[in-house]
Amino acid sequence: MRSIVYSRTGSSSVLSLEEREPGNPGPGEVRVKVTVSGVNPTDWKARAGSGAKSAFDEVVPNQDGAGVIDAVGEGVTGLAVGDRVWLYLTQHQRPTGTAQEYTVIPAERAVKLPEGIGFDIAASLGVPAMTAHRALTVHEFGPARLSRGSLDGRAVLIAGGAGAVGHAAIQLAAWAGANVIATISSDEKAALARAAGAHHIVNYRTEDAAKRIAEISPDGVDHIVEVSIAQNAALDGEVIANHGSIAYYADNGGEEATIPLRPTFAKNVRIQGLLLYTVGEAALSAAVEDITAALGDGALPVGEKAGLPLIWFPLEETAAAHDSVEHGAVGKVLIDVSGDNR
Ligand SMILES: NC(=O)c1ccc[n+]([C@@H]2O[C@H](COP(=O)([O-])OP(=O)(O)OC[C@H]3O[C@@H](n4cnc5c(N)ncnc54)[C@H](OP(=O)(O)O)[C@@H]3O)[C@@H](O)[C@H]2O)c1
Repeated sequence: MRSIVYSRTGSSSVLSLEEREPGNPGPGEVRVKVTVSGVNPTDWKARAGSGAKSAFDEVVPNQDGAGVIDAVGEGVTGLAVGDRVWLYLTQHQRPTGTAQEYTVIPAERAVKLPEGIGFDIAASLGVPAMTAHRALTVHEFGPARLSRGSLDGRAVLIAGGAGAVGHAAIQLAAWAGANVIATISSDEKAALARAAGAHHIVNYRTEDAAKRIAEISPDGVDHIVEVSIAQNAALDGEVIANHGSIAYYADNGGEEATIPLRPTFAKNVRIQGLLLYTVGEAALSAAVEDITAALGDGALPVGEKAGLPLIWFPLEETAAAHDSVEHGAVGKVLIDVSGDNR
């Protein structure tokens, strides 16, 4: 089979296309014939470095993907050969990412797709949708699970609504019934956030964001999904509602944040850090179930019309796909592993 591998960290030039034998699934594992591999910032960040040897002799990159179950290991229940699945965290503490034709992974990392859901959607879920799910479910008095109507009557502010996580957060929050406000930095990104389902768009570069958000939601916003707390802490403190949650998942825009104390403690604000790798299995399985329900409702489409342009690469150009994400591609970078998805 064709595999993209690296054995030392570094620029995308450490990635090479090699022939490898597909592995066999052990107990509790499945082998998946990968159709599409999804690329996220975490994939190039894990690969990048100064030439240090990686934890495994050889690593296949990319956490997310989609494909078909091809073999099932001992003790696996609920999955069978031929099942179409979406994949998440396939390369966490293991070398078995999705930039290859077959990958062997723990069975819980493969989730059955509802009828009629394309592999492009399936490979776009993983990291972005699971991060968005967690960020939307950490409110002190909010629902711990998302479903249709679970966020009825609540206002959600999503920073960077045209980003991959931002896009998933808009879709999940809108599906759950929230009044969704997204911030963006350009007209192009405004159109994408609107297409994703945001009810209100605020350009944080050209508008007074705090004033606009207060006009839209005079009682404040209940949930904030934050990509840049370093830059937005003051804004978030100003617009958050009493008992609101600010879930931050990235250090975009700076590695330290100055939190305005009085506005946040006076409003009993919950400031919640979030890293998918360490969030725990309970949060991951809650996300899996709720995302699958949203998928079944057709609530998570991709493509330009749905606010997430797809940027395709063939498997042999995985290095270019990583570079594209690293350089801030607007949309979702996907690798057409089987060659028949575009
Ligand atoms: N903690 C976790 O588990 C986790 C999970 C997923 C992703 N991440 C991290 O989250 C970040 C985003 O990931 P992604 O896949 O969504 O990337 P992406 O598709 O490149 O989107 C990043 C977005 O950040 C926005 N942004 C940057 N500064 C902003 C600011 N000051 N205010 C509002 N928006 C701002 C940009 O939009 P504008 O141009 O509109 O500002 C851009 O659309 C990455 O650093 C990634 O590593 C962390």
